[in-house]
Amino acid sequence: MTSLSDIRSTFLDYFKRQGHEVVASSPLVPRNDPTLMFTNSGMVQFKNRFTGVESGAYQRATTSQKCVRAGGKHNDLDNVGYTARHHTFFEMLGNFSFGDYFKTEAIPFAWELLTKDFGIDKSKLLTTVYHTDDEAFDMWRKIGVPEDRIIRIATDDNFWRMGPTGPCGPCTEIFYDHGDHIWGGPPGSADEDGDRFIEIWNVVFMQNEQFEDGTMTPLEMQSIDTGMGLERIGALLQGGHDNYETDLFKALIEASAHATSTDPFGDQNVHHRVIADHLRSTSFLIAEGVLPSNEGRGYVLRRIMRRAMRHAHLLGAQDPVMHRLVPALVREMGAAYPELGQGQTLIEDTLLNEEIRFKTTLDRGLKLLDEALEGVAEGADLPGETAFKLYDTYGFPLDLTQDALREKGRGVDTDGFDAAMEAQKAKARAAWSGTGAAADAAIWFDLADQHGVTEFLGYETETAEGQLLALVKGAEAVEAASVGDEVALVFNQSPFYAESGGQVGDTGTVKTDSGVAEVTDTKKVAGVFLHMAEVTEGTLTRGQGTELVVDHGRRSDIRANHSATHLLHEALREVLGDHVAQRGSLNAPDRLRFDFSHNAAVSLEDLRKIEAKVNGMIRQNTAVETRIMTPDDARALGAQALFGEKYGDEVRVVSMGRAPTGKGVNGDNWSLELCGGTHVRQTGDIGAFVTLGDSASSAGVRRIEALTGQAALDYLQGQDQTLAQTALALKTQAAEVPERVKSLLDERKALTNEVAQLRRELAMGGSKAEADAAKTINGVAFKAQVMQGVTGKDLPGMIDEMKSAMGSGAVLLIADADGKVAVAAGVTSDLTDKVSAVDLVKAAVAELGGKGGGGRPDMAQGGAKDAANADAAIAAAEAVLQG
Ligand code: ALA
Repeated sequence: MTSLSDIRSTFLDYFKRQGHEVVASSPLVPRNDPTLMFTNSGMVQFKNRFTGVESGAYQRATTSQKCVRAGGKHNDLDNVGYTARHHTFFEMLGNFSFGDYFKTEAIPFAWELLTKDFGIDKSKLLTTVYHTDDEAFDMWRKIGVPEDRIIRIATDDNFWRMGPTGPCGPCTEIFYDHGDHIWGGPPGSADEDGDRFIEIWNVVFMQNEQFEDGTMTPLEMQSIDTGMGLERIGALLQGGHDNYETDLFKALIEASAHATSTDPFGDQNVHHRVIADHLRSTSFLIAEGVLPSNEGRGYVLRRIMRRAMRHAHLLGAQDPVMHRLVPALVREMGAAYPELGQGQTLIEDTLLNEEIRFKTTLDRGLKLLDEALEGVAEGADLPGETAFKLYDTYGFPLDLTQDALREKGRGVDTDGFDAAMEAQKAKARAAWSGTGAAADAAIWFDLADQHGVTEFLGYETETAEGQLLALVKGAEAVEAASVGDEVALVFNQSPFYAESGGQVGDTGTVKTDSGVAEVTDTKKVAGVFLHMAEVTEGTLTRGQGTELVVDHGRRSDIRANHSATHLLHEALREVLGDHVAQRGSLNAPDRLRFDFSHNAAVSLEDLRKIEAKVNGMIRQNTAVETRIMTPDDARALGAQALFGEKYGDEVRVVSMGRAPTGKGVNGDNWSLELCGGTHVRQTGDIGAFVTLGDSASSAGVRRIEALTGQAALDYLQGQDQTLAQTALALKTQAAEVPERVKSLLDERKALTNEVAQLRRELAMGGSKAEADAAKTINGVAFKAQVMQGVTGKDLPGMIDEMKSAMGSGAVLLIADADGKVAVAAGVTSDLTDKVSAVDLVKAAVAELGGKGGGGRPDMAQGGAKDAANADAAIAAAEAVLQG
């Protein structure tokens, strides 16, 4: 038996031999098409090659492309499980020509591969062509397909479009006839839906482009796009016509049967089929970073997950099942798609968490459904109101309710469901408009209402296409904006992060066919992302497809700072204690700031310990992981929640670092936080971490600012540079600087003391002998002196010294420094009964043009204007002594 893996490589090898480049599958979330929810065929990644917008190194390519068809055009979800060939996830084998070969080569390639390499019996094959395509008809005839087996089809079945817009063209399809023992008619006949004639390959002649306004123009070059479902051709080559009976599906179905202790076949087979199919789509989507949510792609993922989980429930499973099947999937497909093995933990955790939370509502919801049905007439549809209640209260997506009813042969009143949904939106809106928010904010709510909230793609990519849904100038929606205009741009999806949770908004560039704008900030109102931009070239018009490119360098720095903030938070808790809780943060490109509850300064020693812990986690270089769960589950795991913050139904939980002692999820996450921000992939991407110190932010709240990566290095090098310059100036080595500075300070102190001493001695005439030369007036030894270059504040010390040198006596000093005149007098304590220093000062000051003076009897001071009358001043003091 040929396995699906062998078939995949046979296909790729064949086209490689025909000069085709073997190109890897592109992601399921298209990077180049805002209108497409998921990659739904092989040509998606080559869309711009067909239209000629892009050129490439090769003109021929071949791929095995992962595809999901579960939303938008080509949506197969409802049929999965009940048919032999519908899937939400499948692999499309394809060969492509970009203006290189066309029909005359594409048809023989397909024929040769099918009939020679795959060895399919020619007589079992038949083909269809678009009714006007004589050229394709003739090619098939020449190759040897009998004319009655070349069927002309006039419908869209033979005109392929990837979606409402984009490259398209007529196609030819190859069918296999499983024989008349199976019911069904050839393509185009009334019984074509039967299982007898199965389409195995679609070869599209890409020659037109379809535009939004309905027009279709010929493409400049003629190209080829083909698609063959691997699962289908696999079924055929393995001798059957049911995709679910191929080796790969059998393995998954057996894993499902094993996990639920049920029979893989028989009545329960339908449930296993649903589970096997949905396991593939959900796992591949999660591996690409799509996580269950209530919006956009995340919601489609949730719908598929929940549909599978309901089928596990129908199999009687009590415990979560889906996550247990992931190893089987990795075994089957991990070699061809390494992302499965790399994402295995994330896939398992996400499936498990979703299944745990869904289980609790499933029973109650199904009971409600049964009760509701009792009141509904036999065969009638379930009222839309009830379906909406199931959706709104129990998280039952509409298609899950439809699926459950299908088994009972019932439907749902979908118009009623839509009406109930509308009514709820209107209610929410009314509640919002009553909050008194700024009137101009109403426009954002209108936009959210009209288009839904912006889907954020920036966890996974920094470049994506978005559809320009609205341009807002001031508070008004406009149709277009041109050079110089400052506008807020709204897209259906965006890789730009809108400011929140302390992380600043992204900047970057957006580009349409007709213009360019620079985005200077991104904000968020009512879930709508506002790209604050200035048009720098041409014009931007509403409705245009737009390439959105985030400033990569800046975003990388922001990621590093945000992840470092998480590590810092945990390090603070370890070093300072569990009372540390986040009070605020800023994650900007150039630095990070973290405010936390703690009521003392953080010592230098602790700061160093914190830095060492954070840098240790950086060097560990472990993967940063993200999961979605309920806030309660997250807290139970030990996630640090922001105090007072309100969370919705679900939260993102970001974990990083491996703890030496077990704690958290899997017992080993070092940091675990609820966070909507963007982070590095591996802690090593942070590079380095250094704090700029700790300061007080407000009462009981400290603030640490820090740097990461290049900024940290620049800072440390700056410090180093300063030290080197200091060392140079000190004529020493950097390592000696502290010692050198200390000895210089000691030296300086000694010198200062010496200078003061010398100055005093100088002022006093150079020697103590002077004091002996005091006059004696009225029995009191008196010394008076004018001192040049001495200021008033030096006088008391001098007076004291002179007093003690004299032992008993009175002193008068007049200081004169740069026209500032001060007077001080001192009287030794044995004489203060006889004479007061205050009187001496007052008498002297009066002669020097000053006023007053004061102090104690033993020491007094006063200010004066002019020292010219110093002799008179001394004489006045002597007069006081005379009595
Ligand atoms: N793009 C074509 C298809 O999906 C080949 O069928």
